[in-house]
Amino acid sequence: MESTLNDLKTRHSVRKFKDEVVSKDDLEKILETATYAPTGLGLQSPKILVIQREDIIERIAKWNLSYFPEDIKKELEEDYDPFFKTSTLIIVLANSEIPTCVEDGSLVIGNILNAAHAIGVGGCWIHRAREEFDSLQGKELLKVWGIPEKYIGIGHVILGYPADDFEPKITPRKDDYIVYLDDIL
Ligand SMILES: Cc1cc2nc3c(=O)[nH]c(=O)nc-3n(C[C@H](O)[C@H](O)[C@H](O)COP(=O)(O)O)c2cc1C
Repeated sequence: MESTLNDLKTRHSVRKFKDEVVSKDDLEKILETATYAPTGLGLQSPKILVIQREDIIERIAKWNLSYFPEDIKKELEEDYDPFFKTSTLIIVLANSEIPTCVEDGSLVIGNILNAAHAIGVGGCWIHRAREEFDSLQGKELLKVWGIPEKYIGIGHVILGYPADDFEPKITPRKDDYIVYLDDIL
């Protein structure tokens, strides 16, 4: 149990990876764990898409970058890669007909990040999946992939083995993060 708590507390976003692609075995462990995230009414509204093809990841990276706000885009290096040269890209979608879909998908992403960390794989949530799959281009892609249009984008996760010189940025937690109401009432 202590090791579970330690894993949860020592997870950090990893944006610098070794060249080695996440193994099938590690990937399957992470994805299976992801499917055990709680979902509203147990309806399992999310869908997890997995891409390890470099050309497709590059195309989605360019697409993702197009949704950056202009003022932020201006500040970025010319060759900025929103997926940080990952060789494994996960996209989590969720069925918009289920009222808890955003929460369900977010918990799935949490499980992916925590499960990955527990077995030595680094990961980071990358945003703008909602914008991607709300677009016409996104709807067309869903059709090609055989996924109903009612699925919305929740987030991407980039996965990889952390680079040797990866240094986690440790941010102190806010003092007022937790409020014990019994002490106030
Ligand atoms: C909803 C959400 C969206 C995020 N989007 C991005 C993103 O687009 N790009 C990125 O590099 N990191 C993104 N992150 C990662 C956060 O920047 C990171 O979790 C935060 O700085 C805290 O660091 P930690 O994960 O190491 O604790 C996102 C995280 C969350 C939860």
